[in-house]
Amino acid sequence: MKIIGLVSILCAVGAVAAIPTQSLHFGSIAARANTTSLVGYLGVFFLGNDPNIYFYLSNGNDAISFSALNGGNPILVPTLGTGGVRDPSIVSAGGADSGKKWYITTWDASQRNGSLSIFIWESTDLINWGTERLVQVENDDAGMVWAPDAIWDANKGQYLVHWASRFYPANDTNHTGTSGADMIRYAYTSDFVTFSTPQTFIDYSPTSVIDLCILSLGNGSYARFMKNETATNVFMERSDSGLFGTWTRPGGATAIVRSSVEGPYAYMDNLVAGNVTLILDYFNGDGYHPFTSNDLNVDDWADANRTNFPVGLRHGSVLSVTQDQYDALSAMWG
Ligand SMILES: *[C@@H]1O[C@H](CO)[C@@H](O)[C@H](O)[C@H]1NC(C)=O
Ligand SMILES: *[C@@H]1O[C@H](CO)[C@@H](O)[C@H](O)[C@H]1NC(C)=O
Ligand SMILES: *[C@@H]1O[C@H](CO)[C@@H](O)[C@H](O)[C@H]1NC(C)=O
Ligand SMILES: *[C@@H]1O[C@H](CO)[C@@H](O)[C@H](O)[C@H]1NC(C)=O
Ligand SMILES: *[C@@H]1O[C@H](CO)[C@@H](O)[C@H](O)[C@H]1NC(C)=O
Ligand SMILES: *[C@@H]1O[C@H](CO)[C@@H](O)[C@H](O)[C@H]1NC(C)=O
Ligand SMILES: *[C@@H]1O[C@H](CO)[C@@H](O)[C@H](O)[C@H]1NC(C)=O
Ligand SMILES: *[C@@H]1O[C@H](CO)[C@@H](O)[C@H](O)[C@H]1NC(C)=O
Repeated sequence: MKIIGLVSILCAVGAVAAIPTQSLHFGSIAARANTTSLVGYLGVFFLGNDPNIYFYLSNGNDAISFSALNGGNPILVPTLGTGGVRDPSIVSAGGADSGKKWYITTWDASQRNGSLSIFIWESTDLINWGTERLVQVENDDAGMVWAPDAIWDANKGQYLVHWASRFYPANDTNHTGTSGADMIRYAYTSDFVTFSTPQTFIDYSPTSVIDLCILSLGNGSYARFMKNETATNVFMERSDSGLFGTWTRPGGATAIVRSSVEGPYAYMDNLVAGNVTLILDYFNGDGYHPFTSNDLNVDDWADANRTNFPVGLRHGSVLSVTQDQYDALSAMWG
């Protein structure tokens, strides 16, 4: 039986269920170990010099040890747009589709001006992804749609999809003048086909912010990570009052996790309750490095052992998988 569970599987999942009461305490990370049969992790990344989508499977149930699938060749190559994608995010379905459907969202790598759409692949087995669709989510006065990601909002019963955009004055139709700061925008969708009118989620003007990732801690509590594009660092915020609640920065208003990084992505450990892995992309260096924490009420991330974390992985995401899923991925591309 497949029990992918409704329990904060990854950054992109907000549904909460079946968390043992004793593992919940205010502002802390809800345990999901032993409530599911998660035996490993699927990592979905792009590589800097090759904007296609690559899959990596964990070596056993180890959150910081991965090997390339498909001999290191891409799994998904876009057929639409300009033929390159960046920043893939794998999103677990919520609600009735929980454990039965996954989405991968990305954006067009080379068409920055005028690319207001996101690419979407859809799968019911993590193996067959079909052909992507390209859906416009942003208004015409936006300069771009970068790094789309999504989280199931259980309160709303829909996915909250978010991305980064910047805007030009309405009369600057050629987008040659000065734009506003990069901000995080969002829309709701039930099916990744039709999206609500986009709205602003995070506006820290004049600071530009991009690359938002949201981790559900269960219980209406969340951690979110984003890049200060002005300073090129990544910082963390916490909310105990929902996705649109009050967000504060553990460690104080100027606290950051690390500098010279982007593409933050956080995921819960399958085995160690409360243990979170955060990966940060050293975009001018050798790609993702893993960090670890077991208390997201403080801004204290230790370097994790990178020995078995592949070099050169760029902005992507990680999904916990069951034995059936692990075996299927391994059989198909291992
Ligand atoms: C847009 O309007 C502003 C304010 O009237 C003006 O200063 C600016 O030059 C205009 N930009 C373009 C591209 O026409
Ligand atoms: C946009 O560019 C075109 C072609 O260069 C030009 O004819 C047009 O006047 C420009 N529009 C604005 C608002 O600057
Ligand atoms: C941006 O896209 C618009 C609409 O396609 C086009 O008119 C304009 O020339 C482009 N601007 C730049 C700087 O490429
Ligand atoms: C981003 O970094 C700049 C430069 O260090 C700083 O002035 C600004 O306050 C930061 N913004 C946020 C939202 O952290
Ligand atoms: C989470 O659950 C605990 C225990 O039931 C409760 O004390 C706490 O207020 C809850 N937190 C939120 C944000 O709902
Ligand atoms: C899960 O079960 C194992 C074996 O009973 C135990 O050692 C471990 O501490 C448990 N983990 C959690 C998070 O409760
Ligand atoms: C998380 O778990 C891993 C593996 O057991 C361990 O090496 C790491 O130190 C843990 N992180 C924290 C913050 O305890
Ligand atoms: C890191 O992991 C490797 C491989 O498991 C191991 O050989 C090495 O001792 C570890 N380093 C540290 C500092 O724990």
